[in-house]
Amino acid sequence: MDLSQTILGVTFPNPTVLASGIWGVTASSWKRVVENGAGGVTTKSLWIREHKGHPNPTVIANEHWTLNAVGLPDAGPDKAREEIGEYLKDKSAPLIANIVAGKVEDFVAIAEIVCGLGPDFLEVNISCPNVEDECGKPFACSAPDAKKVTEAVKKVSGDVPIFIKLSPNVDDIGAVAVACAEAGADGFTAVNTFGPGMAIDLKSRQPILANKVGGLSGPGLKPIAVRCIHDVYKATGGKLPIIGTGGVHTGQDALEMMIAGASLIGIGTAIGERGQDVFKKVCDEMEEWCEEEGISEVSELVGSIRT
Ligand SMILES: Cc1cc2nc3c(=O)[nH]c(=O)nc-3n(C[C@H](O)[C@H](O)[C@H](O)COP(=O)(O)O)c2cc1C
Repeated sequence: MDLSQTILGVTFPNPTVLASGIWGVTASSWKRVVENGAGGVTTKSLWIREHKGHPNPTVIANEHWTLNAVGLPDAGPDKAREEIGEYLKDKSAPLIANIVAGKVEDFVAIAEIVCGLGPDFLEVNISCPNVEDECGKPFACSAPDAKKVTEAVKKVSGDVPIFIKLSPNVDDIGAVAVACAEAGADGFTAVNTFGPGMAIDLKSRQPILANKVGGLSGPGLKPIAVRCIHDVYKATGGKLPIIGTGGVHTGQDALEMMIAGASLIGIGTAIGERGQDVFKKVCDEMEEWCEEEGISEVSELVGSIRT
């Protein structure tokens, strides 16, 4: 059974990748994720300068969903250089470097630095729903804004393929994807967290998160993510690779996303629920299903939805 996926010339030993922001801060944590079966890793979002993030509490979770308003804390480019350099010295799986900014010119500045470090892909986070207080509405919520960022980043990314991270919080995610494709996107990550949502403590009647609202991830997001992947795949004619992300906990979830059109599968929140070896568990479950179905290469499932 062959689980490997070669995307834009980069070979992933299996389709699972660590989603951005969960465990993805240091070279040693990325290596540990790979030891636990991940086919690739994504860094936490990197800013052009140190970024503080939101005060605690930043996360609340149950078995259905997680709400987070971590607020994208980051130590800045010097730390990114150190950790990415350390990982790439003897990497055992591809590295996707994720960047974020509140302004187009800052996206360009951080993209230039990070692409110079030699990641396999650049993931452009234009879709975080919990930094609206400082950055305004995410660029991914408007096709013209998303296109502007894509065009600007593409000019400085050299030969590093750029994946635009899309938001589920739009009327027409396909139209946003098409605008980004026209501007030179090489692929997409679908999707970032949903919402924002709110949870209230009954006793105090106050929002539980210090930021009051946060992005929703975990199992409750999965059906929305599957539909978004399908929309993006259809709108772009299946020509650009998609990293399907949102609520994947099992091999069955991952296979569903591949059938909808994803080539790789991001896993984040499930680490908390199923443990750090969730990547290995998901791969074993995928393999088992494919063997039962007589499928020898998982890549043949991508976009095989019958509608
Ligand atoms: C605690 C937490 C932190 C996150 N931080 C980032 C981040 O830094 N950059 C980013 O692009 N997405 C971030 N995300 C979104 C995830 O990468 C992913 O798109 C989303 O959580 C859906 O996948 P999941 O249900 O497998 O977690 C974060 C999510 C969580 C739960």
